Amino acid sequence: MEHRRPLIAGNWKMNLNLERALKLAGEIKEGLSDDIEVAIFPPFPFLFEVKRVISGSPIKLGAQNIYHEDEGAFTGEVSPIMIKDICEYVILGHSERRLYFKEDDNMVNRKVRKALEHGIKPILCVGERLEDRKEGRAFEVIKSQLEGSLRDIDASITIAYEPVWAIGTGVPARGEDALEAIKFIREVLGRDVRVLYGGSVNKDNIAQFVRYEEIDGALVGGASLRSEEFLGIVRRTAEVKGF
Ligand code: 13P
Repeated sequence: MEHRRPLIAGNWKMNLNLERALKLAGEIKEGLSDDIEVAIFPPFPFLFEVKRVISGSPIKLGAQNIYHEDEGAFTGEVSPIMIKDICEYVILGHSERRLYFKEDDNMVNRKVRKALEHGIKPILCVGERLEDRKEGRAFEVIKSQLEGSLRDIDASITIAYEPVWAIGTGVPARGEDALEAIKFIREVLGRDVRVLYGGSVNKDNIAQFVRYEEIDGALVGGASLRSEEFLGIVRRTAEVKGF
């Protein structure tokens, strides 16, 4: 099932400078030996140079965001048209965009449609905050994010389950809790999509997620900024998934 092929995606967020970005991309290219899908998501200004560095390798490139219009007076925004020739993927609905940039499900829905219109594959992020979980509303929040962000969309896209409380905290979800949420996501969508886990993933804990058939890989933040750590996550995933 090509659309469920394991994927390890590295979200570099707003980190590095050009020199360090190119070095990291080069190290990942050199060290990659496993046959699962690997994608990196550098900041916008580095995309074209990183593309040059990884050319000739199977590493896919993605953007961390796009705007939901093709062009116009939208100061500071990036159109899908500007990146579609080099980016296979785009991360949409990340909790940091929802929190700091006030993106709601309606906006995320417009972005997902725009990405699909231009042939860019969205990785849609959903996940509950700590207070949602404490109040027993985690699944309700996940369901409403999925339904709102994917309203009138039936394409088979990649979902990343990223519980907000596990992002950047060094405390990942327990494997069984991630599994439960991801099973729920599959149930809500009712179609066979690829689902990743994200939140404090590293090479020592990745197996606790990808050992489940339902979890197809990971969206990695901090650990994707160190080539040895990122390649370790890729290697362990390939081993556990039998690639
Ligand atoms: P960390 O791996 O740093 O927790 O970040 C996860 C994430 O937000 C990936 O998109």
